[in-house]
Parts: sequence; structure tokens; C-alpha cells
Amino acid sequence: MSSSDNLIIFDTTLRDGEQSPGASMTRDEKVRIARALEKLRVDVIEAGFPIASEGDFEAVKAVAETIKDSTICGLARALDKDIERAGEALKGANAGRIHTFIATSPIHMEKKLRMTPDQVVDQAVKAVRKARDYADDVEFSPEDAGRSEIDFLCRVLEAVIDAGARTVNIPDTVGYAMPHQFGGLIGQLRERIPNADKAVFSVHCHNDLGLAVANSLAAVRNGARQVECTINGLGERAGNAALEEVAMAVRTRQDLFGCDTRLDTTQIVSCSRLVSGITGFPVQPNKAIVGANAFAHESGIHQDGVLKHRETYEIMRAQDVGWTHNRMVLGKHSGRNAFRARLAEIGVTLDSEEELNAAFSRFKDLADKKHDIFDEDLQALVTVATLDAANERVKLLSMKVCSETGETPDAEVVLSVDGEERRGNATGGGPVDATFRAIESVVQTGTTLKLYSVNAITSGTDAQGEVTVRLEKAGHVVNGAGADTDIVIASAKAYLNAVNKLARPRDRAHPQLGDV
Ligand code: KIV
Ligand code: ZN
Repeated sequence: MSSSDNLIIFDTTLRDGEQSPGASMTRDEKVRIARALEKLRVDVIEAGFPIASEGDFEAVKAVAETIKDSTICGLARALDKDIERAGEALKGANAGRIHTFIATSPIHMEKKLRMTPDQVVDQAVKAVRKARDYADDVEFSPEDAGRSEIDFLCRVLEAVIDAGARTVNIPDTVGYAMPHQFGGLIGQLRERIPNADKAVFSVHCHNDLGLAVANSLAAVRNGARQVECTINGLGERAGNAALEEVAMAVRTRQDLFGCDTRLDTTQIVSCSRLVSGITGFPVQPNKAIVGANAFAHESGIHQDGVLKHRETYEIMRAQDVGWTHNRMVLGKHSGRNAFRARLAEIGVTLDSEEELNAAFSRFKDLADKKHDIFDEDLQALVTVATLDAANERVKLLSMKVCSETGETPDAEVVLSVDGEERRGNATGGGPVDATFRAIESVVQTGTTLKLYSVNAITSGTDAQGEVTVRLEKAGHVVNGAGADTDIVIASAKAYLNAVNKLARPRDRAHPQLGDV
């Protein structure tokens, strides 16, 4: 495939995705996601914003040192200190990229940066030159390009390409653009900028009006050859363009786009589950490509059509994006090798033999409670929340809940807090409420419950329930996830997962709030 037929996928789940409230990830979680993205054959992984905090720096460094087949990118404002820090974090990368940015819209320049347009051009050029001291591969973004003046964009972009930017990324930072207009903008920039052929044009669209994917695709039709996107569309506010939607649109409609990605799309569903499990952001059932209903046919007419000829109602094959059709894969008598082999088939590799042994023992417990074990059940057994539960400060040892018609539900929990056994009791409006209060009586976080949701992982009354909770304390938001065939136990696990995340340090700078 010639370079103009190749659409570069730049995944920013670990950077912009992490800017979703409550989605912050640890270094190890980022490395796990980066490995899955590498397996998906993502071209560029934006691993974080190294100047934001020591934790962000360490995470970018660890991803850079681990990943071999994708370029690793670090974000930096157009400031020397940011660029130096990004260069340092990327030292161990096989292929590293520095992504530097400064705002170019009148409102951002005047109200946020308090800089003149001339100063912005000057700073952008200096930043790109400085970044080239650390990496050959430098990307520049004029932040809020969607609301910038086209003449000014042409001026800045020509200057940064001359200074050595190999990729120029056009962000619709606030999700304001409309597809025909945004596509037109990309076409005009490519036509008007004299040295446009020296750089790859990229886009980065936010989803405030639900148009991030449509805007990205309109840009591809007009010659953009890199799309910045995230798994499940995670990201600041309403999120970014969903990687899975962009990738499957260009693959399914090659007649329109004339380009394709190098992704192994069969890894999409497992990546989606991994990101959802780590961040605690559930995927809505009707979400394109990765939602539980994305390939489910409910109406009799549709089912009949699909059985006669699949393409009557399906434009993609479920297995091409990694769905395995609720296959009953393992049962009570399955052994460790079959368990390990099936995990590998669904794209899950555990880090150590201990993790495998612990997961296998959870599988045996589940097989005692549930007759048919599906791939979805296996995925839930190895979510990060489950894997990490054994190493957390606060662990659930046991619990008992009484719920009876006409009586107030009460719950008793036994927790291990830093290795010490602690008991808590409480009553509540329902069994879940009583459980959360019982846990709070021990851990006393003083948080507010902002969201509680339960999803059945598979069908059937013996299905595992997957619970998500969101807790908030003084502006610090965390999500927790947990799964069990008993939804009250799943709820307790999810609550504790969130409580453990609350304890993690969070003093980090936000890239777009910075002073330049
Ligand atoms: O939305 C945005 O403008 C960004 C930039 C840093 C590219 O995330
Ligand atoms: Zn963004």
C-alpha cells in the first residue's frame, strides 16, 4: 500500500482518554492497554503528558520501554520544559514522537494565552525546533483549530512544517465543526499551504455534538491521513472519535475512502473490554461495533434474513471485530491448559503464572455457580479490577446481606484494610445501599456516590452482573468496576475498587489549562 492509501491510526486513549473525569490510570494499567493497542497494530500510541506529574512521566517512560511495534508519543505544550520532559520520557522508545501544541483561535489566544498572533507563531516554531532536538518525528497541533481563522492557520502550519514538523494535526478541540465544513477546511489547508506535501495532515475531533467520527471521516475524504482517536470514544467531556468506528468505516467503505488502516480489527472487542474494565466506563449496549447489541438481531424479519443470507442485514462480520458469539467455551471440568489456551484465543495474556493461577481458581469458583462459561465470563475474570483486587489496600474478605419483604435490609462486611481484619454493619434502603454503608462505616471515605450501574455480562439468570460505581470527593472522581454472579457482591467489589483508586495520588496538571 502506498503511503497515501495508508490511514495512520493515532490512539490517544492513554492521554486524551485519561482526561475523562475518573478515568485516570496507573502506570501498569497504561502498559497493559498499550500492549493491547500494539497487538491491535495501532501506528502511534500517545502515552501521556509527561510534564503533568511524576506518575505521568513514569507511565510514558514505561510504555516507551515496553512497546516495540508502535510509535510512542508524548504530549508537550509549546514550552521548553514540557518538551525536555517529553524527550526524556521517550528516551527508551524504539520509535518516539513529540507532539507539541499551542492554541490558535482568537478566543484562546486573547483570553487564555494573552498572546498576540505573532507571538503564537514564534512560540510554535521555537517549540517544533526544540522538539526536533529530541526526536525526528515531531507533530504540531494548533489547538482549537476548528474555531481558528483559516489564513492564520495557513501561516502557522507553513511555518511549523518549515521548522520540521512531520505531522500537522488539526484539532476540533471543542467539537464545534460540522462534517462538510471540517472536511472543506482540511482540503483548503492542503491546497493553500505551499509546503503541505512535506507533512501528514492529521485530525483530532471531539464529540460535543456527536460528530467526532463524522468530522474525522470527512477529513479523510479530503486527504487527512492520520486520525487521532480513542478506544470506545473515551476522552475529555463527550470524548474523542471512537477508534473502532473510524477504522471499521474506512474498511467497510473502501469504495468511498480509498485508504485503509493496518489494524488487526479482530483485537477491537478485547481492547474495548480492557479499557472499559480499567477505567470503569461501561460500553452502552447499542454502541456501534463494540456494544453488546451491535450484531444482535431482534426482529424476526431480520433474523430470518440473516439466516438466509448474512449480508441482508449485516455490513460487517462480527468475528472481524473480535466478537465470539457467546460461545460456551469451558465448563466445570475444563483444565488449566484449556483455560490458558482460550484466554490466549480471546486476546488475553496474563503477566505471570501467579495471575494465571489466581484467575484459574476464580474460574473454578465461577464454574461451581454457573453451568455455561462464555468468553465474556472469562474476560470478566481477568479484568484489571479483578486482577488488582488481591493487591489492593482494602479487600473484601466476606459479606452477608439480609433482604426481606417488609424488613429494612442490613449488611455486614468483613474487610482487610492494610492487612488488618475490620468489620462493618449497616442498614439501608436496599441491599446495595446497606452494603455501601457497611463498607463506608469501615473505610470512612466520605465520598458521594455519583453513578451506579449494573449490566448482565451474558444472558440467563445465572449470568454475572458487572457493576460500575463512580465516587466523588472534593472534585476527585474515580470509577470502580466489579463482577460476580451475585450482583450485591459485584457491587461491593466495584465500590472497593473505587475506594482503592481514591487513595492514589492525583496532583497532575491538565495540558490545556496551562500557562504558556
Ligand atoms: O483537543 C485538543 O485540542 C487536544 C490537543 C492537545 C491536540 O487534545
Ligand atoms: Zn483533545
